[in-house]
Formats: sequence, structure tokens, C-alpha cells
Amino acid sequence: MKKLNSSSRSKALRTPLGGGGALASTCKALSLPTMTNFAHDEVVPLKNSELSKKEQVADMFDNIAYRYDFLNRFLSVGIDVWWRKKAILQLKKLGPKKILDVATGTADVAIMTARLLHPEQIIGIDISDGMLSFGRKKIEKLGLQSLIELLNGDSETIKFEDNSFDAVTVAFGVRNFQHLEKGLSEIKRVLKPGGKLVVLEFSKPKSPVIKQLYHVYMNIVAPNMGKLFSKNRNAYKYLDESIKKFPEGKNFTSILDNLGYKNSYCTPLSFGICSIYCGEK
Ligand SMILES: C[S@@+](CC[C@H](N)C(=O)[O-])C[C@H]1O[C@@H](n2cnc3c(N)ncnc32)[C@H](O)[C@@H]1O
Repeated sequence: MKKLNSSSRSKALRTPLGGGGALASTCKALSLPTMTNFAHDEVVPLKNSELSKKEQVADMFDNIAYRYDFLNRFLSVGIDVWWRKKAILQLKKLGPKKILDVATGTADVAIMTARLLHPEQIIGIDISDGMLSFGRKKIEKLGLQSLIELLNGDSETIKFEDNSFDAVTVAFGVRNFQHLEKGLSEIKRVLKPGGKLVVLEFSKPKSPVIKQLYHVYMNIVAPNMGKLFSKNRNAYKYLDESIKKFPEGKNFTSILDNLGYKNSYCTPLSFGICSIYCGEK
């Protein structure tokens, strides 16, 4: 797999993503707000950078990749493992054979899916080569190379044919998409009719007590731990801001509905700190 450096990545990511104009008019036809109407798209890791959100996100994950798994477990006290399991089990009844894990990162979801669902093939795509290389090492160590393949790939221009996958998973990825709806409609394109999308994403707790604790955690604990262990305070400030601006709950299922997904639903987990969203093609 060719590793992209920052400047070649910039070029690759700046190429028109399959016609933004076309999607904008689709949104109009569906009475959706255009993509740029979502504040979500404007939340970037670095305020003063000239790089696009996608380039910044890829750089940020390249930089924290070596600490990503550790910080996930540490900062969530291990609950993230249960969240991923709960999300993957949304696919149990469907029994998917071919699964795409979008924004696969270090392949935690792909690996857990292999164990829980025993599909025939899992492909993971991500824009950060740094994250993918840690993921590949984990897959090799577990001897899962014949089942799981990781590729550099963008959710907004997925390099697979229409109707290719029985299921698509995205854990903690959609919040980072540059154009949320574009990614979600590309995912729908590659899903087979009857196929299912499972999204796992952070959301904001509703209970006043949990809200207070969450505020302290997000503003003090996470950025400082992030700085200490990954030397990247910005990544954890971005985490907080991107969660705040993310269209969660009904707003997210409405986006799925408007894009033509069927039977969408949302299941909040752990006081609403995290949510599972599903939709079918
Ligand atoms: C928070 S990590 C989640 C990784 C993994 N899914 C997990 O559960 O730990 C977010 C990942 O999304 C990836 N990402 C962001 N935008 C993307 C896009 N447009 N296409 C593919 N991957 C993307 C980042 O590179 C990063 O690895």
C-alpha cells in the first residue's frame, strides 16, 4: 500500500470528490440542508490551518496513531470495548458475509467483528496510513490476514462498486468526515439492497449530573491526558468540539432517512455519552 506524505495526501484529498455539486443538488431535491449547512463540517482540529478538514484529520490521526489504542482504553476505562461490541451485535441477525468497516483506524471493529460474526470477508478503509499500519500489525499478530484487509480509502469516494457489501460499520468515524452526508450516501451506494449500516458515535449526555462530570472530563481530563500521552492536546480539544457540533440523535436518523435509508433507529449507550445509529438500504 502506497503511503501518502502530507503534500501528496493534500493533492489526493483536494481532487474533486466525485462531484460535490451533484450531491448538493440531490440534497436540494430531497429538501435536505446542503452539506455546508452543517456546522459539523466546519469543525477542524486546527483553526488556522489552510489544510482541509480531511487533511487535518488524517494528519492528526497519523500523529496520535502510536498511542491511539492505549488512550482509547485508558480514557474510556475500557467501556469503548463494550460500545463496539454492542454496535457490532446489531448485525448478528443479518449474518453479513461481506462487511466494510469505514474509518477503520487501528482495526478494532474489524477484528471484533471477525470474532463475533464470523463473516467471509472484512475490508477496512481509512484515510490515515499511520492508523492503518498499526491495524495491519494487529491483524497479522492475530493471523487474520486472510479475513481482514485494510486499505487506504476515503468514505466520500469509496472505491467499490454499487451493492458490494452486506453491512457497513463506522465507529467514531462519521464525526470526522469532511462532508457527512456525502460519506453516508457513498456508504449507501456500496451497501447491497437489504444491507445494514451501523454507526457508533459519541453524543452528549442529557442528565444534569452526568453532564457536569462529562464537562470536567472533556475539558480537563481528556485534553491533559491526551497532551501527556500523545503530546497532542489539540486532538482532544477537537474531540470535544466535534462532539458538541455533531448532529446527534434524531438529527442523525433524519439525515439517514433523507438519504433514503430505511428503518433507521438510534440507541443511546452509557447515559447518552455514546449512541448507535442504524439504517438499511
Ligand atoms: C476516532 S478514529 C476511529 C477508529 C476506529 N473505527 C475505532 O473504532 O477505533 C477515526 C478514524 O476516522 C478516520 N477518518 C476520518 N475521516 C475519514 C474519511 N473521510 N474516510 C475514511 N476514514 C476517515 C480517521 O483517519 C481515523 O482513523
